Amino acid sequence: MKDISIAIDGPASSGKSTVAKILAKDYGYIYIDTGAMYRAVTYLALAKKISVETEELLIQAIEKQPISFQASENGQQVFVGDENVTEAIRQNDVTNLVSTVAAKSLVRTALVKLQQEFGKNGGVVMDGRDIGTVVLPKAEVKIFLVASVEERAERRYKENIAKKIPTDFEILKEEIARRDYLDSTREISPLVQAEDAVLLDTTGLNIEEVVGEIKKIIIEKT
Ligand code: C5P
Repeated sequence: MKDISIAIDGPASSGKSTVAKILAKDYGYIYIDTGAMYRAVTYLALAKKISVETEELLIQAIEKQPISFQASENGQQVFVGDENVTEAIRQNDVTNLVSTVAAKSLVRTALVKLQQEFGKNGGVVMDGRDIGTVVLPKAEVKIFLVASVEERAERRYKENIAKKIPTDFEILKEEIARRDYLDSTREISPLVQAEDAVLLDTTGLNIEEVVGEIKKIIIEKT
């Protein structure tokens, strides 16, 4: 198979990153977690006490300490400058603020540019909210993953507990629904299914089944 671009979008905790990582490994592609990039900017805003309303300052801070990914035996690590923020960006303070940061136009412009740079040679699996619509509109394969809020909250709850992130199930469910609302109703690049994306409802499916469905779609489209 020639090196194609695979765009996976969908709401919070719909399983995008888990399946994207497996696909990237199976095809020998690079994996770009764009949510981690918005989380990294949010982390920097909190760490440096930069108001989300002062977008220019936030962009300057990111230019000084660029976001990068590094493969490791513990999975892909996310860096802001020299600092490994892989765990920090999954904490509740970042999760609760990230959708507000991601709605800012200068932040989006800067990160989309970087994401397009990462994906310019193909051979990439990228997941997020606007990959099929804005970042890689020419991607050969576009998937829009959805699942019920209940199931997504259950999956994320288990992940958080495994990572020792303190979590209350009901609050988590509300937080996921709130993030979906903010991401879908923002003015710039809202979370919407691209016209040419294939909708895949993963409610009741396990990871292997979802990966299997996507591989069938990839075969059909290439
Ligand atoms: O994918 P994840 O849940 O880690 O993304 C965190 C947040 O980053 C999302 O809720 C959304 O606000 C933002 N995001 C975005 N566009 C992307 C990826 C993530 O706005 N392409």
